[in-house]
Amino acid sequence: MGSIQVEFKNSATTAILEAVKARRTHYALKAESPISDEAIEHIVQSAVLHVPSSFNTQTSRVVLLLKEEHQKVWDIAISAMEGLVAAGKVPKETFENQTKPKLNAFRAAYGTVLFFVDYDSLATIKEKFAIYADKFDPFALESNAMSQYLVWTALQSEGLGANLQHYSPLIDEGIQKQWNLPASWKLDAQLVFGAPASAPGEKSFNPLEDRFKVFGK
Ligand SMILES: Cc1cc2nc3c(=O)[nH]c(=O)nc-3n(C[C@H](O)[C@H](O)[C@H](O)COP(=O)(O)O)c2cc1C
Repeated sequence: MGSIQVEFKNSATTAILEAVKARRTHYALKAESPISDEAIEHIVQSAVLHVPSSFNTQTSRVVLLLKEEHQKVWDIAISAMEGLVAAGKVPKETFENQTKPKLNAFRAAYGTVLFFVDYDSLATIKEKFAIYADKFDPFALESNAMSQYLVWTALQSEGLGANLQHYSPLIDEGIQKQWNLPASWKLDAQLVFGAPASAPGEKSFNPLEDRFKVFGK
C-alpha cells in the first residue's frame, strides 16, 4: 500500500490489516499444527457463525477434517484421478510426475477445511424475492468465499500455512459418501493447512494506481 503512515483509533485495525498482508499461499506443509485442534475448530466455527450472507440466508456449510480424516480427502482425489488415467482421460505420465506428487503434498499437511454451499436452502427466499432470484446463487458463493478468506487469514495468523484448492466435481461423490453429507451441500473449495515447511514464493503486485481510485478526499 501507499508509503504514508496512517494511525488508527483502534490498534485492532492495524492488527487486521497486518493479518491480511501476512496471509499467503503455502504449498509446503507439515502434518503438524502450532495450535490446538480446539483453536482451529473455534476459527472455523467463528467463520460459519459470523461471516455475513445475503439476506442473512446462512448458506455456507463447512467440514473441518484433521489428521487421518484430512488424508482421506486426498486419497479420494488420488483415486478419482487414477480413474481418469484408467479411462484414458489423463495421461499416466502427467498423473505420475505432476498430479500425484501435488496431491500427496496436500495429503502430507495437517488438515483440510471443506467449504460447501447449500443452494437448495435458497428455494423459499427465491420465491419470496423473485426479483433477486438469479442473484441468490452468486451471493451464496460470495459469502462462502468470505468464509474461506477469513479461515485462511486466521489460520495464518496463528502460525499455520494454507493453500486453497478446487477439486470439485472430481471428488464430490467420494466426499459426500465418506462423511455421509447431505446431497444439497455443493462443494466449492478445499483449504489445506499445516505448519509451513518453507517460506511462500515471491508475489508480485500490479500498480495500485491501476486498480484503485478515490474521489472526494
Ligand atoms: C478464488 C481463488 C481461487 C484459487 N484457486 C486456487 C486453486 O485452485 N489452486 C491453487 O493452488 N491456488 C488457488 N488460489 C490461490 C491463488 O493462486 C493465490 O492466492 C494467488 O496467487 C496470490 O498468492 P497468495 O495467496 O500467496 O497471496 C486461489 C485463490 C483464490 C482467491
